Amino acid sequence: MKWNAELYDQKHAFVFQYGESVMELLDVQPGERILDLGCGTGYLTQQISELDADVVGIDYSPEMIQKARQSYPEVSFSVADASKFSFTEPFDAVFSNAALHWVKDHDAMMKCVYHSLKPGGRFVAEMGGKGNVLQLITATKQVLLKHGFAKQAETMIWRFPSLGEYTSELENHGFRVTFAAHFDRPTALQDGDQGVAKWIAMFGEQYFEGVPSNQKQQMLQEITELLRPHYYREGQWFSDYVRLRFTAVKQL
Ligand code: BEZ
Repeated sequence: MKWNAELYDQKHAFVFQYGESVMELLDVQPGERILDLGCGTGYLTQQISELDADVVGIDYSPEMIQKARQSYPEVSFSVADASKFSFTEPFDAVFSNAALHWVKDHDAMMKCVYHSLKPGGRFVAEMGGKGNVLQLITATKQVLLKHGFAKQAETMIWRFPSLGEYTSELENHGFRVTFAAHFDRPTALQDGDQGVAKWIAMFGEQYFEGVPSNQKQQMLQEITELLRPHYYREGQWFSDYVRLRFTAVKQL
């Protein structure tokens, strides 16, 4: 998937603004070595570096890393796959905000995180949890099916695990989960009645592979109308975000 890093920065700032509260959970200490996994355009990586940490940001998308380097030339960034990375010098903590639900191979990712941490090092993350954007996914599938795009309706872009399944996986990979929470966080969308379509254009393009663009515009409007009763309140659109947040400590 090719990311539009400019648009991401302008229109989806909420992704990293909310991330600031996950950073409180990270509780960076000066001098710590931190990896920001799935750093996107680098806003939170830069925030971590301002706390006098030695931080490295990695992301799968070259477009995101190019933008991050342009915006924060003093911070270290590189393109890397969350399921295939390794570093010679271990980290005190691995941090991740709103990225892990894009990872395909969580088993490989957890192994990489484990091996990149010092003993006692922490893995602190927030991702979409079970039920995340369920209304949006349901409406999108319904409209795809109605228009005869059965194959696209089966598309699985993200993984949104439950607290129970994910904390068990972390334990099976050698972590002790010291904190975990699964909670609703309705999240404001920008651009009024165009907000749903813009969100899907940014994050859910894969649902529309092979759909002619004029038909896609019509379908996006239909999805918006299906979501209106669930997403629109007092002049503002909100998406049904559900978060999974955890701290997991590397055991020997
Ligand atoms: C999320 O942060 O929950 C999310 C962001 C983009 C696509 C899917 C989920």
